[in-house]
Amino acid sequence: TRIVVLISGNGSNLQALLDQSDANQLGGQIMAVISNKADAYGLERAHAAGIATAVVSNQDYADRESFDAALMQVIDGYQPNLVVLAGFMRILTPTLVRHYRGRMLNIHPSLLPRYQGLHTHQKAIDAGDKEHGCSVHFVTEELDGGPVILQARVPIFAGDTASEVAERVLVQEHAIYPLTVRWFCDGRVVMQQGNAYLDGALL
Ligand code: GRF
Repeated sequence: TRIVVLISGNGSNLQALLDQSDANQLGGQIMAVISNKADAYGLERAHAAGIATAVVSNQDYADRESFDAALMQVIDGYQPNLVVLAGFMRILTPTLVRHYRGRMLNIHPSLLPRYQGLHTHQKAIDAGDKEHGCSVHFVTEELDGGPVILQARVPIFAGDTASEVAERVLVQEHAIYPLTVRWFCDGRVVMQQGNAYLDGALL
C-alpha cells in the first residue's frame, strides 16, 4: 500500500506511523509527507526518516477550491492507495473528499460523534465528562462525521487541564492510528456504502 500523510504541525502521529514503518509493522510504505505549513515540525521528522516531503501552502491560493486542486495534484503524484490525515488542520472540499472516498483516514481527538471540530479536550472538561478519547474514521463529506473504525478511551480526572487531557489522549492516538493503518493496508478494514467494516463485520 502506498501511503501519503498530510500534516500541519508537530507530527507526533506521523512519528508513530514512521516508527511502526521502521519496525516493518505498518503493512505499507509512506511515499510522502505533505504539509500546508512550511514550518511544520513534522516535515523534519519526515526528512530524518528519509521520506519525500512537499509543501502546498493554502496561503498561496485564492480559495479552498484552487488550494484543494493543487493539493490533489501533489498527492496524486505519489499514486497513493491511502491518504492519512495526521493533524491536518484544513477543511477539505467535497470534490477532494470524494476523490479519495474509501481511502482517506483521519484521527480526531474525541469520542466521536461527541465534540467535532476544535478544542475537544476543553469541551469534554466543560461538559463534566469522566471519559474522553480519540477516534480513527474514514473521511466523508461530513466534517469529522465519517464512519468510525477504532476509538480509545481515557479517563478525565478532577482538576485536569485541557493540555493534561490532550497528552493522555495523544498517547492513545499514537497507538490506534498505526494499528488502523495496518488494518487498512492488510485489507481488513474497508468502507462500503458509507459504513466501515473490519474483517467483514459492520463497525
Ligand atoms: C492530534 O491531536 C490530532 O488528533 C488532531 O491534531 C493533533 C495533531 O497532533 N487532529 P500531531 O501533529 O500528530 O502531533
